[in-house]
Amino acid sequence: MIRFGIVGTGRISDWVLKGAAQDPRVQVTAVCSRTVEAAEAFVNRNPMAAGAKIYTSVEEMAADPQVDAIYIGTPNQTHCEYTLASLKAGKHVLCEKPLAINAEEGRRMVEAARESGCLLMEAMVSTLNPNFRAAAQLIGQIAPVRQYSSYFCQYSSKYEALKRGEVATAFKPGSAGALRDVGVYTIYPLVALFGRPVTVNGELRTIETPEGYADVCGAACLGYEDMDATLTWAKSFDSFQPTEIAGEKGNIILDEIHIARKAEIIPHAAPTSGQGPKPGRTTVCEGLPCNEYYYEFREFADLVEQGKTESEINSLETSLIVLEIMDELLCE
Ligand SMILES: NC(=O)c1ccc[n+]([C@@H]2O[C@H](COP(=O)([O-])OP(=O)(O)OC[C@H]3O[C@@H](n4cnc5c(N)ncnc54)[C@H](OP(=O)(O)O)[C@@H]3O)[C@@H](O)[C@H]2O)c1
Repeated sequence: MIRFGIVGTGRISDWVLKGAAQDPRVQVTAVCSRTVEAAEAFVNRNPMAAGAKIYTSVEEMAADPQVDAIYIGTPNQTHCEYTLASLKAGKHVLCEKPLAINAEEGRRMVEAARESGCLLMEAMVSTLNPNFRAAAQLIGQIAPVRQYSSYFCQYSSKYEALKRGEVATAFKPGSAGALRDVGVYTIYPLVALFGRPVTVNGELRTIETPEGYADVCGAACLGYEDMDATLTWAKSFDSFQPTEIAGEKGNIILDEIHIARKAEIIPHAAPTSGQGPKPGRTTVCEGLPCNEYYYEFREFADLVEQGKTESEINSLETSLIVLEIMDELLCE
Protein backbone atom coordinates (compact mmCIF):
# COMPACT_ATOMS: atom_id res chain seq x y z
CA MET A 1 0.00 0.00 0.00
CA ILE A 2 1.10 3.58 -0.66
CA ARG A 3 -0.33 5.91 1.95
CA PHE A 4 -0.88 9.38 0.49
CA GLY A 5 -1.16 12.74 2.18
CA ILE A 6 -3.11 15.20 0.02
CA VAL A 7 -2.19 18.90 0.05
CA GLY A 8 -4.95 21.27 -1.08
CA THR A 9 -8.67 20.59 -1.03
CA GLY A 10 -9.66 22.27 -4.29
CA ARG A 11 -11.35 20.71 -7.31
CA ILE A 12 -8.18 19.12 -8.72
CA SER A 13 -7.68 17.09 -5.52
CA ASP A 14 -11.30 15.92 -5.78
CA TRP A 15 -10.77 14.97 -9.42
CA VAL A 16 -7.53 13.04 -8.95
CA LEU A 17 -8.89 11.03 -6.03
CA LYS A 18 -11.47 9.53 -8.41
CA GLY A 19 -8.55 8.15 -10.41
CA ALA A 20 -6.48 7.21 -7.35
CA ALA A 21 -9.45 5.20 -6.04
CA GLN A 22 -9.11 2.85 -9.03
CA ASP A 23 -5.65 1.69 -7.93
CA PRO A 24 -6.03 -0.71 -4.99
CA ARG A 25 -2.44 0.05 -3.89
CA VAL A 26 -3.30 3.70 -3.11
CA GLN A 27 -4.70 4.87 0.23
CA VAL A 28 -5.28 8.37 1.62
CA THR A 29 -4.26 8.67 5.26
CA ALA A 30 -3.85 12.45 5.63
CA VAL A 31 -5.21 15.70 4.21
CA CYS A 32 -3.59 19.11 4.55
CA SER A 33 -5.46 22.35 4.07
CA ARG A 34 -5.04 25.96 5.12
CA THR A 35 -8.17 25.49 7.22
CA VAL A 36 -9.52 22.59 9.29
CA GLU A 37 -13.02 23.30 7.92
CA ALA A 38 -11.95 22.83 4.29
CA ALA A 39 -10.05 19.64 5.18
CA GLU A 40 -13.07 18.24 7.03
CA ALA A 41 -15.36 19.03 4.11
CA PHE A 42 -12.90 17.32 1.73
CA VAL A 43 -12.72 14.20 3.91
CA ASN A 44 -16.52 14.10 4.16
CA ARG A 45 -17.12 14.35 0.42
CA ASN A 46 -14.36 11.95 -0.72
CA PRO A 47 -14.97 8.36 0.38
CA MET A 48 -11.32 7.57 -0.33
CA ALA A 49 -10.21 10.12 2.27
CA ALA A 50 -12.60 8.85 4.97
CA GLY A 51 -10.83 8.72 8.32
CA ALA A 52 -7.79 10.66 7.05
CA LYS A 53 -5.86 12.68 9.63
CA ILE A 54 -6.20 16.43 9.17
CA TYR A 55 -3.27 18.84 9.07
CA THR A 56 -2.87 22.56 8.45
CA SER A 57 0.91 22.36 7.98
CA VAL A 58 2.66 20.49 5.18
CA GLU A 59 5.76 20.00 7.38
CA GLU A 60 3.67 18.35 10.10
CA MET A 61 1.88 16.11 7.64
CA ALA A 62 5.20 15.16 6.02
CA ALA A 63 6.51 14.10 9.45
CA ASP A 64 3.61 11.65 9.90
CA PRO A 65 4.96 8.06 9.76
CA GLN A 66 1.55 6.97 8.41
CA VAL A 67 2.27 8.94 5.20
CA ASP A 68 4.52 7.49 2.44
CA ALA A 69 3.84 9.96 -0.36
CA ILE A 70 2.42 13.43 -0.83
CA TYR A 71 0.21 14.71 -3.66
CA ILE A 72 0.45 18.47 -4.16
CA GLY A 73 -2.71 19.96 -5.68
CA THR A 74 -2.17 23.61 -4.74
CA PRO A 75 -1.38 26.73 -6.81
CA ASN A 76 1.87 26.75 -8.80
CA GLN A 77 3.72 29.17 -6.53
CA THR A 78 3.48 26.66 -3.65
CA HIS A 79 4.80 23.59 -5.54
CA CYS A 80 8.48 24.20 -4.81
CA GLU A 81 8.09 24.94 -1.10
CA TYR A 82 5.73 22.01 -0.46
CA THR A 83 7.82 19.59 -2.52
CA LEU A 84 11.03 20.54 -0.71
CA ALA A 85 9.32 20.14 2.69
CA SER A 86 7.96 16.71 1.71
CA LEU A 87 11.26 15.43 0.27
CA LYS A 88 13.13 16.68 3.34
CA ALA A 89 10.90 14.45 5.45
CA GLY A 90 11.68 11.50 3.17
CA LYS A 91 8.31 11.38 1.37
CA HIS A 92 7.74 10.65 -2.32
CA VAL A 93 6.03 13.50 -4.18
CA LEU A 94 3.44 13.61 -6.95
CA CYS A 95 3.24 17.31 -7.85
CA GLU A 96 0.66 18.99 -10.07
CA LYS A 97 1.67 20.65 -13.34
CA PRO A 98 3.64 22.73 -14.02
CA LEU A 99 6.28 21.28 -11.71
CA ALA A 100 7.27 24.82 -10.64
CA ILE A 101 6.84 28.42 -11.71
CA ASN A 102 10.26 28.53 -13.38
CA ALA A 103 13.29 26.37 -14.21
CA GLU A 104 15.33 27.69 -11.30
CA GLU A 105 12.74 26.39 -8.82
CA GLY A 106 12.39 23.19 -10.82
CA ARG A 107 16.14 22.52 -10.64
CA ARG A 108 16.07 22.95 -6.84
CA MET A 109 13.22 20.43 -6.62
CA VAL A 110 14.99 17.90 -8.85
CA GLU A 111 18.24 18.31 -6.92
CA ALA A 112 16.39 17.79 -3.61
CA ALA A 113 14.67 14.70 -4.99
CA ARG A 114 17.97 13.19 -6.13
CA GLU A 115 19.60 13.92 -2.76
CA SER A 116 16.65 12.46 -0.82
CA GLY A 117 16.44 9.25 -2.83
CA CYS A 118 12.66 9.77 -3.01
CA LEU A 119 10.46 9.67 -6.07
CA LEU A 120 9.41 12.99 -7.59
CA MET A 121 7.02 13.04 -10.54
CA GLU A 122 5.04 15.80 -12.23
CA ALA A 123 1.35 14.90 -12.40
CA MET A 124 1.18 15.50 -16.16
CA VAL A 125 -1.86 13.47 -17.07
CA SER A 126 -1.50 13.72 -20.88
CA THR A 127 1.63 11.63 -21.40
CA LEU A 128 0.52 8.75 -19.13
CA ASN A 129 -2.77 8.43 -20.99
CA PRO A 130 -2.85 5.01 -22.76
CA ASN A 131 -4.18 6.58 -25.99
CA PHE A 132 -1.19 8.95 -26.07
CA ARG A 133 1.14 6.02 -25.29
CA ALA A 134 -0.39 3.99 -28.15
CA ALA A 135 0.06 6.92 -30.55
CA ALA A 136 3.68 7.35 -29.45
CA GLN A 137 4.36 3.71 -30.36
CA LEU A 138 3.28 4.41 -33.96
CA ILE A 139 5.64 7.29 -34.68
CA GLY A 140 8.16 4.93 -36.32
CA GLN A 141 5.50 4.07 -38.93
CA ILE A 142 5.12 7.69 -40.11
CA ALA A 143 8.74 8.81 -39.64
CA PRO A 144 10.51 10.98 -40.45
CA VAL A 145 8.32 13.44 -38.56
CA ARG A 146 8.24 16.90 -40.07
CA GLN A 147 5.57 18.73 -38.07
CA TYR A 148 3.87 18.55 -34.67
CA SER A 149 0.90 20.83 -34.15
CA SER A 150 -0.99 21.00 -30.89
CA TYR A 151 -3.84 23.02 -29.44
CA PHE A 152 -5.28 23.54 -25.99
CA CYS A 153 -7.72 26.42 -26.18
CA GLN A 154 -10.59 26.53 -23.72
CA TYR A 155 -12.63 29.64 -22.98
CA SER A 156 -12.50 29.99 -19.21
CA SER A 157 -15.15 31.43 -16.91
CA LYS A 158 -12.20 32.89 -14.99
CA TYR A 159 -11.33 34.91 -18.10
CA GLU A 160 -14.73 36.60 -17.81
CA ALA A 161 -13.88 37.47 -14.19
CA LEU A 162 -10.40 38.61 -15.24
CA LYS A 163 -11.92 41.13 -17.63
CA ARG A 164 -13.81 42.51 -14.61
CA GLY A 165 -10.50 42.84 -12.73
CA GLU A 166 -10.85 39.68 -10.60
CA VAL A 167 -7.64 37.66 -10.80
CA ALA A 168 -8.22 33.93 -10.19
CA THR A 169 -5.33 31.61 -9.22
CA ALA A 170 -5.12 30.36 -12.79
CA PHE A 171 -4.24 33.87 -14.03
CA LYS A 172 -1.94 35.09 -11.22
CA PRO A 173 0.82 37.14 -12.85
CA GLY A 174 4.21 35.60 -12.12
CA SER A 175 2.93 32.15 -11.16
CA ALA A 176 0.08 31.18 -13.49
CA GLY A 177 -1.53 32.49 -16.71
CA ALA A 178 -2.62 30.65 -19.85
CA LEU A 179 0.85 29.33 -20.71
CA ARG A 180 1.46 27.67 -17.34
CA ASP A 181 -2.17 26.62 -16.99
CA VAL A 182 -2.97 25.13 -20.40
CA GLY A 183 -0.05 25.90 -22.75
CA VAL A 184 2.02 23.42 -20.73
CA TYR A 185 -0.19 20.63 -22.11
CA THR A 186 0.92 21.44 -25.66
CA ILE A 187 4.61 21.59 -24.68
CA TYR A 188 5.11 18.67 -22.28
CA PRO A 189 3.98 15.86 -24.65
CA LEU A 190 6.10 17.38 -27.43
CA VAL A 191 9.21 17.35 -25.25
CA ALA A 192 8.40 13.85 -23.97
CA LEU A 193 8.35 12.64 -27.58
CA PHE A 194 11.04 14.72 -29.27
CA GLY A 195 13.21 16.20 -26.51
CA ARG A 196 14.65 19.69 -26.29
CA PRO A 197 13.95 22.00 -29.23
CA VAL A 198 16.79 23.94 -30.86
CA THR A 199 14.84 27.20 -31.14
CA VAL A 200 11.91 28.70 -29.20
CA ASN A 201 9.81 31.57 -30.53
CA GLY A 202 6.39 32.71 -29.47
CA GLU A 203 3.84 35.39 -28.77
CA LEU A 204 1.82 35.79 -25.58
CA ARG A 205 -1.29 37.97 -25.38
CA THR A 206 -1.78 39.66 -22.03
CA ILE A 207 -4.39 41.65 -20.13
CA GLU A 208 -3.45 44.27 -17.58
CA THR A 209 -4.85 43.40 -14.15
CA PRO A 210 -4.57 45.06 -10.74
CA GLU A 211 -1.82 42.51 -10.00
CA GLY A 212 0.18 42.93 -13.21
CA TYR A 213 -0.06 41.49 -16.72
CA ALA A 214 -1.79 38.10 -17.05
CA ASP A 215 -1.24 36.06 -20.21
CA VAL A 216 -4.53 34.80 -21.64
CA CYS A 217 -3.46 33.06 -24.86
CA GLY A 218 -0.42 32.49 -27.00
CA ALA A 219 1.27 30.62 -29.81
CA ALA A 220 4.76 29.26 -30.26
CA CYS A 221 6.96 27.79 -32.95
CA LEU A 222 9.61 25.40 -31.66
CA GLY A 223 12.29 24.33 -34.10
CA TYR A 224 14.04 20.96 -34.11
CA GLU A 225 16.85 19.83 -36.37
CA ASP A 226 14.51 18.44 -39.02
CA MET A 227 10.98 19.20 -37.82
CA ASP A 228 8.94 22.08 -36.39
CA ALA A 229 6.27 22.29 -33.74
CA THR A 230 3.47 24.84 -33.73
CA LEU A 231 1.59 25.23 -30.47
CA THR A 232 -1.52 27.25 -29.65
CA TRP A 233 -3.09 27.67 -26.24
CA ALA A 234 -5.77 29.93 -24.82
CA LYS A 235 -8.11 30.62 -21.96
CA SER A 236 -9.74 33.41 -23.96
CA PHE A 237 -11.20 31.37 -26.83
CA ASP A 238 -12.05 27.78 -27.75
CA SER A 239 -10.47 25.68 -30.45
CA PHE A 240 -11.62 22.29 -31.69
CA GLN A 241 -8.41 21.49 -33.56
CA PRO A 242 -6.81 18.14 -32.74
CA THR A 243 -3.13 17.51 -32.13
CA GLU A 244 -1.35 16.12 -35.19
CA ILE A 245 2.03 14.52 -35.73
CA ALA A 246 2.79 14.72 -39.44
CA GLY A 247 5.45 12.52 -40.97
CA GLU A 248 6.54 11.74 -44.51
CA LYS A 249 4.85 8.31 -44.28
CA GLY A 250 1.63 9.40 -42.61
CA ASN A 251 -0.11 11.28 -39.84
CA ILE A 252 -1.14 10.53 -36.28
CA ILE A 253 -4.07 12.45 -34.82
CA LEU A 254 -5.08 12.80 -31.17
CA ASP A 255 -8.50 14.33 -30.58
CA GLU A 256 -7.38 16.32 -27.51
CA ILE A 257 -3.89 16.59 -26.11
CA HIS A 258 -4.88 17.18 -22.47
CA ILE A 259 -6.77 13.89 -22.20
CA ALA A 260 -6.74 12.01 -25.51
CA ARG A 261 -9.82 9.87 -25.98
CA LYS A 262 -9.12 8.88 -29.56
CA ALA A 263 -5.94 8.25 -31.56
CA GLU A 264 -5.99 7.74 -35.33
CA ILE A 265 -3.38 7.01 -37.96
CA ILE A 266 -3.56 7.96 -41.63
CA PRO A 267 -0.88 6.23 -43.70
CA HIS A 268 0.41 8.37 -46.53
CA ALA A 269 -1.16 7.37 -49.82
CA ALA A 270 0.74 7.40 -53.12
CA PRO A 271 1.61 10.96 -54.16
CA THR A 272 -1.23 12.54 -56.13
CA SER A 273 -1.86 15.83 -57.84
CA GLY A 274 -4.54 16.48 -55.20
CA GLN A 275 -7.33 14.84 -57.25
CA GLY A 276 -6.94 11.27 -55.95
CA PRO A 277 -8.97 9.60 -53.21
CA LYS A 278 -8.45 10.88 -49.65
CA PRO A 279 -6.37 8.45 -47.55
CA GLY A 280 -8.35 6.41 -45.01
CA ARG A 281 -8.16 6.94 -41.26
CA THR A 282 -7.69 4.01 -38.92
CA THR A 283 -8.72 4.36 -35.30
CA VAL A 284 -5.87 3.09 -33.14
CA CYS A 285 -7.78 3.39 -29.88
CA GLU A 286 -10.86 5.11 -28.56
CA GLY A 287 -12.23 5.75 -25.08
CA LEU A 288 -10.49 5.35 -21.74
CA PRO A 289 -11.09 2.20 -19.71
CA CYS A 290 -10.27 3.96 -16.43
CA ASN A 291 -10.63 7.44 -14.95
CA GLU A 292 -8.20 9.81 -16.70
CA TYR A 293 -6.27 10.46 -13.46
CA TYR A 294 -5.87 6.75 -12.63
CA TYR A 295 -2.86 6.42 -14.93
CA GLU A 296 -0.65 8.90 -13.04
CA PHE A 297 -1.32 7.06 -9.77
CA ARG A 298 -0.65 3.72 -11.45
CA GLU A 299 2.69 4.97 -12.78
CA PHE A 300 3.60 6.48 -9.40
CA ALA A 301 2.63 3.31 -7.49
CA ASP A 302 4.56 1.12 -9.98
CA LEU A 303 7.67 3.25 -9.45
CA VAL A 304 7.38 3.17 -5.65
CA GLU A 305 6.92 -0.61 -5.77
CA GLN A 306 9.99 -0.97 -7.98
CA GLY A 307 12.06 1.34 -5.75
CA LYS A 308 12.55 3.81 -8.63
CA THR A 309 12.95 7.54 -8.02
CA GLU A 310 11.97 8.81 -11.45
CA SER A 311 9.46 8.05 -14.19
CA GLU A 312 10.88 7.30 -17.64
CA ILE A 313 7.65 8.65 -19.17
CA ASN A 314 7.16 11.80 -17.03
CA SER A 315 10.87 12.28 -16.48
CA LEU A 316 12.36 15.11 -14.46
CA GLU A 317 14.50 16.03 -17.48
CA THR A 318 11.28 16.59 -19.46
CA SER A 319 9.80 18.69 -16.64
CA LEU A 320 12.93 20.87 -16.57
CA ILE A 321 13.10 21.35 -20.35
CA VAL A 322 9.41 22.36 -20.32
CA LEU A 323 10.08 24.93 -17.58
CA GLU A 324 13.04 26.31 -19.55
CA ILE A 325 10.86 26.66 -22.67
CA MET A 326 8.16 28.44 -20.65
CA ASP A 327 10.79 30.77 -19.13
CA GLU A 328 11.90 31.68 -22.66
CA LEU A 329 8.34 32.30 -23.83
CA LEU A 330 7.63 34.40 -20.75
CA CYS A 331 10.99 36.18 -21.20
CA GLU A 332 11.89 35.33 -17.59
N1 LIG B 1 -4.07 17.93 -13.88
C1 LIG B 1 -5.10 18.69 -14.19
O1 LIG B 1 -5.95 18.32 -15.00
C2 LIG B 1 -5.24 20.02 -13.51
C3 LIG B 1 -6.42 20.73 -13.59
C4 LIG B 1 -6.53 21.93 -12.90
C5 LIG B 1 -5.47 22.40 -12.15
N2 LIG B 1 -4.31 21.69 -12.11
C6 LIG B 1 -3.17 22.18 -11.30
O2 LIG B 1 -3.56 22.04 -9.96
C7 LIG B 1 -3.00 23.09 -9.17
C8 LIG B 1 -4.12 23.79 -8.42
O3 LIG B 1 -4.93 24.44 -9.34
P1 LIG B 1 -6.41 24.89 -9.00
O4 LIG B 1 -6.96 25.59 -10.14
O5 LIG B 1 -7.15 23.70 -8.43
O6 LIG B 1 -6.08 25.98 -7.85
P2 LIG B 1 -6.99 26.50 -6.65
O7 LIG B 1 -8.37 25.95 -6.77
O8 LIG B 1 -6.83 27.96 -6.54
O9 LIG B 1 -6.25 25.88 -5.37
C9 LIG B 1 -6.35 24.51 -5.04
C10 LIG B 1 -6.29 24.39 -3.54
O10 LIG B 1 -5.01 24.81 -3.07
C11 LIG B 1 -5.17 25.46 -1.81
N3 LIG B 1 -4.67 26.84 -1.96
C12 LIG B 1 -5.22 27.87 -2.60
N4 LIG B 1 -4.45 28.96 -2.53
C13 LIG B 1 -3.38 28.60 -1.83
C14 LIG B 1 -2.24 29.30 -1.43
N5 LIG B 1 -2.03 30.57 -1.75
N6 LIG B 1 -1.35 28.63 -0.68
C15 LIG B 1 -1.56 27.34 -0.38
N7 LIG B 1 -2.63 26.63 -0.74
C16 LIG B 1 -3.53 27.26 -1.48
C17 LIG B 1 -6.64 25.48 -1.47
O11 LIG B 1 -6.92 24.38 -0.64
P3 LIG B 1 -7.09 24.62 0.93
O12 LIG B 1 -8.17 25.63 1.08
O13 LIG B 1 -7.42 23.28 1.40
O14 LIG B 1 -5.78 25.12 1.47
C18 LIG B 1 -7.29 25.32 -2.82
O15 LIG B 1 -8.56 24.75 -2.76
C19 LIG B 1 -2.26 23.99 -10.13
O16 LIG B 1 -0.89 23.69 -10.10
C20 LIG B 1 -2.85 23.65 -11.48
O17 LIG B 1 -1.93 23.87 -12.54
C21 LIG B 1 -4.18 20.51 -12.75
